[in-house]
Amino acid sequence: MKKLRYGIIGAGGCGQGKHLSSYSLLSDDVELVAVCDLIPERANAAADRFNVEAAYTDYNEMLREEKLDLVSVATPNDVHAPATIAALKAGCNVHCEKPASLTPALVQSMIDARDASGKKLMIGLNNRFTNWAQFAKKLVDDGGLGEIYHAKCGWKRRRGIPGKGGWFTTKARSGGGPLIDLGVHFIDVTNYIMGFPTPVTVTGETYSKFADGQPFNPKASSYTGTYDVEDLAIGMVRYENGCSMELEFSWASNIECEYRFCELYGTKGGLRYANGELTIFTQVNGVSVDSTPKLAKDSAWGNAETRYYVDCIRKNKEPLARPEEAVVIMKIITSLYKSAEKHKEVTIK
Ligand SMILES: NC(=O)c1ccc[n+]([C@@H]2O[C@H](COP(=O)([O-])OP(=O)(O)OC[C@H]3O[C@@H](n4cnc5c(N)ncnc54)[C@H](O)[C@@H]3O)[C@@H](O)[C@H]2O)c1
Repeated sequence: MKKLRYGIIGAGGCGQGKHLSSYSLLSDDVELVAVCDLIPERANAAADRFNVEAAYTDYNEMLREEKLDLVSVATPNDVHAPATIAALKAGCNVHCEKPASLTPALVQSMIDARDASGKKLMIGLNNRFTNWAQFAKKLVDDGGLGEIYHAKCGWKRRRGIPGKGGWFTTKARSGGGPLIDLGVHFIDVTNYIMGFPTPVTVTGETYSKFADGQPFNPKASSYTGTYDVEDLAIGMVRYENGCSMELEFSWASNIECEYRFCELYGTKGGLRYANGELTIFTQVNGVSVDSTPKLAKDSAWGNAETRYYVDCIRKNKEPLARPEEAVVIMKIITSLYKSAEKHKEVTIK
């Protein structure tokens, strides 16, 4: 079978560390053809590192010249929608990084472009492809925890603002701080495991306490760029089916250590994923029992996800991390920002 001609738009940390590293392992199915990055030295260095012949600085030119079948988009968040739409129009399947875009309407415009193209579009939500998430999804789907009526999720960092002063901390480019950056992963995986109930309202607050003048670390505190996003977001979502979800995401806060978690409260049992460990809480003959599934070690960042996406393209299967679900997640996120602005609960439209 003909190999898929592959190109990437955005060859920074995620573009090289996740996409190029993972797709380069699939040489039976994928031919790395072209790399595009706005920074010419970065495009050339990535092309050298992954043995790719063509390097571009303009993705429209790359799409015109290279007749690609599959394109990764791993740029700053504000470029996701225009680059994805251009690649779909050029007849490519697209693997776009999270968050899908900055607003629900922009994600919808990506879905419309996908539908017009007849190609596939998957969002890079790698947490869904972990062994704990797949185990939890099946357990909940099989009724192992009973009715899920409450969830908590979060990703809290003590110190970990990405690229302080760069695009991550510039709202017009990123869409926000840790809520959209880290939140998108754990809000998504929690909703996925719960079966994507329909969210109806959200209430939340955001705080920005680690911009200028706050103790951070000597290197990062000398930044000169923009910092107009939150560094802590907290909130609660209510769903149409009566269940609720609390959330907390931070890039910097004075807590003990970094903590990534998802907790589910069910009528028959509960579940906690915390920093790599999964525990199930049940009762046997009236006695509380905690069990820890012995899950296989996850493959490296992005490997399971890229293998899966190539398989979807080959077998014409609908990919798991659907952009329709990204619209729901984006609605939760943008509604929480609205709620924080107004200091009151808002209805999710
Ligand atoms: N799934 C994950 O676990 C994960 C982890 C990190 C980052 N990400 C996502 O990946 C994306 C990139 O993040 P990053 O950390 O690699 O950022 P980065 O700044 O390291 O890399 C982004 C690259 O895109 C390039 N770029 C910007 N505009 C471009 C354009 N118009 N055309 C071509 N190239 C362009 C930049 O020059 C830069 O090299 C973000 O959306 C981020 O949220 C996902």
